[in-house]
Amino acid sequence: MAEQHERIVDTPEWKALEEHFERTRDLHLRQMFTDDATRGDTMVLEAGDLYLDYSKNRLTPETITLLVALARRAGVETLRDAMFAGEKINITEQRAVLHVALRAPEGEQILVDGVDVVPEVHRVLDKMAGFSDRVRSGAWTGHTGKRIRNVVNIGIGGSDLGPRMAYEALKDFSERSMTFRFVSNVDGNDFWEATRDLDPAETLFVVASKTFTTLETMTNARSAREWALEKLGDDAAVAKHFVAVSTNAEEVAEFGIDTENMFEFWDWVGGRYSYDSAIGLSLMIAIGPDAFRDMLAGFHAIDEHFRTAPIESNLPMILGLIGIWYDNFFGAETVAILPYNNYLSKFSAYLQQLDMESDGKAVDRQGNAVDWQTGPIVWGQPGTNGQHAYYQLIHQGTKLIPADFIGTCRPAHLLGDHQNLLMANFFAQPQALAFGKTPEEVVAEGVPAEQVPHRTFAGNHPTNSVLVTELTPNTLGQLVAMYEHKVFTQGAIWNINSFDQWGVELGKKLAMDIVPELDAATEPDLAHDSSTNALIRRYRRLRS
Ligand code: F6P
Repeated sequence: MAEQHERIVDTPEWKALEEHFERTRDLHLRQMFTDDATRGDTMVLEAGDLYLDYSKNRLTPETITLLVALARRAGVETLRDAMFAGEKINITEQRAVLHVALRAPEGEQILVDGVDVVPEVHRVLDKMAGFSDRVRSGAWTGHTGKRIRNVVNIGIGGSDLGPRMAYEALKDFSERSMTFRFVSNVDGNDFWEATRDLDPAETLFVVASKTFTTLETMTNARSAREWALEKLGDDAAVAKHFVAVSTNAEEVAEFGIDTENMFEFWDWVGGRYSYDSAIGLSLMIAIGPDAFRDMLAGFHAIDEHFRTAPIESNLPMILGLIGIWYDNFFGAETVAILPYNNYLSKFSAYLQQLDMESDGKAVDRQGNAVDWQTGPIVWGQPGTNGQHAYYQLIHQGTKLIPADFIGTCRPAHLLGDHQNLLMANFFAQPQALAFGKTPEEVVAEGVPAEQVPHRTFAGNHPTNSVLVTELTPNTLGQLVAMYEHKVFTQGAIWNINSFDQWGVELGKKLAMDIVPELDAATEPDLAHDSSTNALIRRYRRLRS
């Protein structure tokens, strides 16, 4: 039988929040802002370059006090300290969880099994920097002596989304004379599109996989080798056109990549927390080692804030607690991430894995089924595009959709009045969502009576506004660390293991069972359910 642990929903702190919820659930943001004219100045937090305004949430100062008490009861600080101390808090895999060590400055000490991992982190960073410099300067050439002009990252999940998102975010800092592409899907169209116009003699593949066994990545890597060798002819070309990022040296060698050209990381780095490890190699080649290190410094600044600030003023913790308030008390199912900076076009997709693979769990750390809601569905796209697509539902639909608005004050490129128009929308949307428009206001505009209900905005839709001076490697690191620690805080309160991902295994296994049935030359005996059997038969009939 699974070990018992205090159930968070049975604690007096949780009950106090339930009672508080009953008392405050109908409070309207209009009223709260009228009652307290300073709300927008006081319900704010700062950490590094991040400014969080959480005043447009359906909560009072008492809510925050009660949520902070809940966090203390749940032992969020204890678990945080255990993480920073290198304890094996990923209990199902018996691993430490030390992405924070990836950005620890030289000289800091973080022990795993009694060994300081920080010097190793810096050894690999230096190796990455040396390699990146050689590729960027042209000193590293391809097999035929041509300069490398294209870098293709092959990876999936955490070995793709992080470098891809950060490359998009920091494109303006990237080496524009080079082309960077990312291939993840086992769908051959992805590989084909990424390579169709590239010259193999000028192309470097970074095969990024923690395990080096992932079906999609290994399939794409094999196709890449064939694609390159078809033109370059000689097996020796692999050494000049393929490098690996992995924890698994044996598999890397088995694939045929010289382990000299392997950049390692460690089992205490989770895939979705790995882009500031060697998994970020393609990003480092794009933006250069100095900018990469600046990004790590940004991560570290927020790590330090998270590690030391009291819960009341701990920005990622407060963000996490606000999420708990909607998830567990209001029953919200999702959270929208809405960056008002087009360079953050992949940010929501990145956070989907970070949050949903971490906190999409239904058993607690002891293996008992939980009967409280855990991780939310994360979604979103950059504003203002979403405003002309799905914001209608947020404004006037029947669902409660908490949203994070992320804005940057200084644009990378000044173009007419674009930036002010963008930011006017960044300010206007949370305002409209919070305060809405009453029927009386609609009537006063002269709207015909029958249209008044359609043009009324109920308001009271909660948002956080995160304002950053500008998007740089450093502030990107800060933003990502903020969300990493938000996700941590929530997982700690729900008493789930945010660091494993067993849920992805079953589908992988079933797919491997089906592969021979698709490959079979003659009609195979199928023993699946009737739906799967029929779909496979139809596919076999139609595919050619
Ligand atoms: O399938 C899920 C997952 O294990 C992710 O957690 C991980 O980021 C991704 O696959 C890729 O794994 P790898 O880096 O080992 O190829």
